[in-house]
Amino acid sequence: MCGIVGVLGNHEVAPILVEALKRLEYRGYDSAGIATVQDGVLDRRRAVGKLVNLSDALVHDPLAGKSGIGHTRWATHGGPTVTNAHPHQAGRVAVVHNGIIENYKELRAKLSHRTFVSQTDTETVAQLCEDYLDQGLSPRDAAVETLAHLEGAYALAFLFHGEEDLIVAARMGSPLAIGHGDGEMYVGSDAIALGPMTNRITYLEEGDYAFVSRAGVEIHDAQGALANREMQSVSAQSMQLDKGGHKHFMAKEIFEQPVVLADCLSHYTDAGGVTLPQPLDFTQTDRVILVACGTAYYACAIAKYWFEQFAGIPCDVDIASEFRYREPPVSPKATALFVSQSGETADTLAALRYVTEKVDRVVSVVNVPSSSIARESDVALPILAGVEVGVASTKAFMNQLGVLANLAIMAARQRGRIDAVREAELLEILHGMPGLINQALALEDKIAKRTARLAEAKSVLFLGRGAMFPLAMEGALKLKEISYIHAEGYASGELKHGPIALIDKTVPVIVFAPRDALFDKTISNMQEVMARDGKVWLITDAEGAAQAGDGTWATLVMPTVDPALAPMLYAVAAQLIAYHTALHKGTDVDQPRNLAKSVTVE
Ligand code: F6R
Repeated sequence: MCGIVGVLGNHEVAPILVEALKRLEYRGYDSAGIATVQDGVLDRRRAVGKLVNLSDALVHDPLAGKSGIGHTRWATHGGPTVTNAHPHQAGRVAVVHNGIIENYKELRAKLSHRTFVSQTDTETVAQLCEDYLDQGLSPRDAAVETLAHLEGAYALAFLFHGEEDLIVAARMGSPLAIGHGDGEMYVGSDAIALGPMTNRITYLEEGDYAFVSRAGVEIHDAQGALANREMQSVSAQSMQLDKGGHKHFMAKEIFEQPVVLADCLSHYTDAGGVTLPQPLDFTQTDRVILVACGTAYYACAIAKYWFEQFAGIPCDVDIASEFRYREPPVSPKATALFVSQSGETADTLAALRYVTEKVDRVVSVVNVPSSSIARESDVALPILAGVEVGVASTKAFMNQLGVLANLAIMAARQRGRIDAVREAELLEILHGMPGLINQALALEDKIAKRTARLAEAKSVLFLGRGAMFPLAMEGALKLKEISYIHAEGYASGELKHGPIALIDKTVPVIVFAPRDALFDKTISNMQEVMARDGKVWLITDAEGAAQAGDGTWATLVMPTVDPALAPMLYAVAAQLIAYHTALHKGTDVDQPRNLAKSVTVE
């Protein structure tokens, strides 16, 4: 949700800022802008829409200077206009911001003597800082005084007129990385943005602010005391950003799944069975609470079946934005699990903070080990999916399932629900999954052929039973977010309680039905759809296809998989259906409208 960058360099900084913003564009693409200081003069360029518009603007109207800040925006307060685009400038200071200043209305009222030009919360930060400069404070002091009056979440970078060797950076609730170069220094929302410049990174902690100059960085904690924050070397691989020959990052990430899942699984298994990077004991747990948003929530909803069926532990699954405000009673013996690709999702983080004092152990399942959610949990389990750039989550979902399946199997063993033999069997199925996913990926052409018709639909339903129900919801989410076609996922048995009224020959119904104990029931529901002229696309295995009978609009025969873990395999079909439908529609697959990769506002 918005990406920010800052560079104190030895070369013209505009192209460097644009390059860094390109690597942050997945965080938002409503507008982009940069500001620089040249010969002491602060100036900026901004453009609505994708970064390419800013690049075009810079061709016609270049911006010189070796010190600068930049921003790519996902609009929160105020529409996507040039006036609302960052950097926001008030007199001698320009500011870029990721997050939300919650008390901006009060601050704006206090600053009524100043002229505001945008509808954003961020402009308040620039105006407040300029007010302190007017009162005679130095740029450093003005920025620190400004920070003291802000409420909400922010990663901020300030650049000042007359100061070519200073960026003030601050973090509260939104991540911020400081990059160390040779005689150059950088600031970025994440290390990936700084990848081409440096792999030496210091992460600011909550409440930290930093004075960055070419000579280095001076970091202060929330109380103002000098703070020593460790510099880390980030692996080059984790900062790689290329499409690997695919047309889109999403396609690359779908096809990476066999490899990243195998890597992840090997990390969680040794000769003795499931092994975790940090020990976790489920023997005293009376309840597992799973909390997340979006696709990560559907991974949790699938894992609920595993915790209940394998381990016999009661399991609640919640959407983080509901959980945090419902404030449910939480048993101290509960194990609370927070699942997040980015590790920065504001609602998931708030939900985690709500349970922190209430439960024995807070566990997170994250893709970014340095993220806020990872750092604030007692045990942080990495999913090791590598950077996910496509806004629609695919490989992270797969690896979230991989880690959650391991946890459920481990819990089952610890609680005596399964013996070593069954554990080994389940792990064998799990470790066979990358091979099966490879086989499913080979069905791409068959899937692509059918999606031309899907792309014409106004509405699509997805059905599934058992753990296939949350997968149906995930399939619908994938389709709607990248193809903009209305789609819903339903439990097959729920259809006749309302949604069946939607069925006619224009509504494709995609049915996930591996041959399992519930297969016959799902097929009955499918027949009910077909009896009403519904166009059914059955996704099943060879045995299922043979038993389902005729009359479907299409049948996709998937590799045979143990039903216990089938959602992992069928996820690949759901992803390819969404991807190819979006290709037919010609939408922007990697950066679908209105979305952003990392949702750091609630
Ligand atoms: C959908 C998608 C989102 C995220 C959700 C949570 O494809 O990617 O629904 O799953 O915004 O994000 P994280 O996992 O970063 O907490």
